[in-house]
Amino acid sequence: AAVKRYQFDIQVRKVSRLCHAKPIVTVNGRFPGPTIYVREGDRVLVNVTNYAQYNMSIHWHGLKQFRNGWADGPAYVTQCPIKTGQSYTYDFNVKGQRGTLWWHAHIFWLRATVYGAIVIMPKLGNPVPFPRPQMEEVIILGEWWNYDVEEIVKQGNKLGLPPYASDAHTINGKPGPLFPCSEKHTFAMEVEQGKTYLLRIINAALNDELFFAIAGHKMTVVEIDAVYTKPFTTEAILIAPGQTTNVVVQATQSPGRYFMAARPFMDAPLSIDNKTATAILRYKCIPNTVFPLLPQLPAPNDTAFALSYNSKLRSLNTRQFPANVPLKVDRHLFYTIGLGMNPCSSCLNGTQLTASLNNITFVMPQVGLLQAHYFNINGVFTTDFPDNPPTPFNYTGAPLTANLGTTLGTRLSKIAYNSTVQLVLQGTNLLIVESHPFHLHGYNFFVVGTGIGNFDPKKDPAKFNLVDPPERNTVAVPTGGWTAIRFRADNPGVWFMHCHLELHTGWGLKTALVVENGKGSDQSVLPPPKDLPSC
Ligand code: C2O
Repeated sequence: AAVKRYQFDIQVRKVSRLCHAKPIVTVNGRFPGPTIYVREGDRVLVNVTNYAQYNMSIHWHGLKQFRNGWADGPAYVTQCPIKTGQSYTYDFNVKGQRGTLWWHAHIFWLRATVYGAIVIMPKLGNPVPFPRPQMEEVIILGEWWNYDVEEIVKQGNKLGLPPYASDAHTINGKPGPLFPCSEKHTFAMEVEQGKTYLLRIINAALNDELFFAIAGHKMTVVEIDAVYTKPFTTEAILIAPGQTTNVVVQATQSPGRYFMAARPFMDAPLSIDNKTATAILRYKCIPNTVFPLLPQLPAPNDTAFALSYNSKLRSLNTRQFPANVPLKVDRHLFYTIGLGMNPCSSCLNGTQLTASLNNITFVMPQVGLLQAHYFNINGVFTTDFPDNPPTPFNYTGAPLTANLGTTLGTRLSKIAYNSTVQLVLQGTNLLIVESHPFHLHGYNFFVVGTGIGNFDPKKDPAKFNLVDPPERNTVAVPTGGWTAIRFRADNPGVWFMHCHLELHTGWGLKTALVVENGKGSDQSVLPPPKDLPSC
């Protein structure tokens, strides 16, 4: 194992897209930011120095950070922000994971422009369990706003409405030629006929679940969220914010130019958003004058495609890469996802959109939750987050009142070390119907079941897949339905859990789990690093 060092300078830089130039926050002046290349088993040291007039923190999305929440990054959860002029070194080991993950700012909406890929190569001598591609490329899907994101969010909060949708979707930071002034802001990937490519696809968009396809080329899904899957071939993939998908593509078409394209899957009805980002797959020696073909993407509301696509995702589950699904459950959690209107004195209409889990809208503390936990600081959070919603009701019917009247709180759930947890996330039909990509920090979990309508604790568990369910760190809870996940709580610390739609995170669709220490000497949270920022 090696030690890999990276220097991340947080700098503001002017970037132009869609005929506008605006200052954005970047890492090392790059947008998207640099890719981190590591090998399974490596120790990684990323020194972040903040030269911008914004508070900063960086999250290594999907890395488990075993006993080491100090390197996880969400502001006010595992650390205080890195202030202007300060530095902090994220120091972590990459253990038991290989594949594609990503990093992003984890404070306010700054991940709009502060993000990049993490490529984890398997240990030397451990071949990938699929035909080895000859070349590879990182494909990061994102969003672009013409205006300062901060201003847009502020405006939205004042009006009590969602902020405007982004002005473009992007592929590797570039919207592609279907947008104005974007001919030169088009990502192109060159391929050689007959060769096999691995695409490491990341959805870094703030608020959109996306379809992605390549004209004339099928994709074979081999890995999601840095876990190998049973390979299957598809015309298009569906990827929620936070998720990663590795696909193998064969350049076997007649040499030409082909569009890759990304477009949202059923946005909230309030922000219908059909914009298509494109990039180009170009066979070697084909001139730029040949106009590319557009791929067929599923229709924006193609729920049938979404259900069928997600049902094909299975863990590889071989002897070398087993799916260790907890068969017995020690702790049952049932969280309802509510979106609603709450009173707001500073808002124009006196109300504001909020979001809740079990009718609790999460309030961020002023100090890091992990510090409060580690140093036993009282009064920062409570551990009385309810295991069930206050009243059972028909969640996907018309439950208006049962889901309103949320309370505010910094309430967490305490989980016993090494216990097995089942969490059912239940969508409700309040105000907006849309899927919610839920992300748990510090863990991968198994997606053992999902369905439309109300979860039935008597009938649905019988249909769970406990053999080869997909293992991941972010799962899209379907529109008007539920998802059940299982994991073993073997990583002590305080772990954030939230909807990866930035809009919903901001409205309070989040909480955290306090996983207690075990008795063994290697079962407790490590001491904090000396340079950990203070509040
Ligand atoms: Cu990718 Cu808490 O986030």
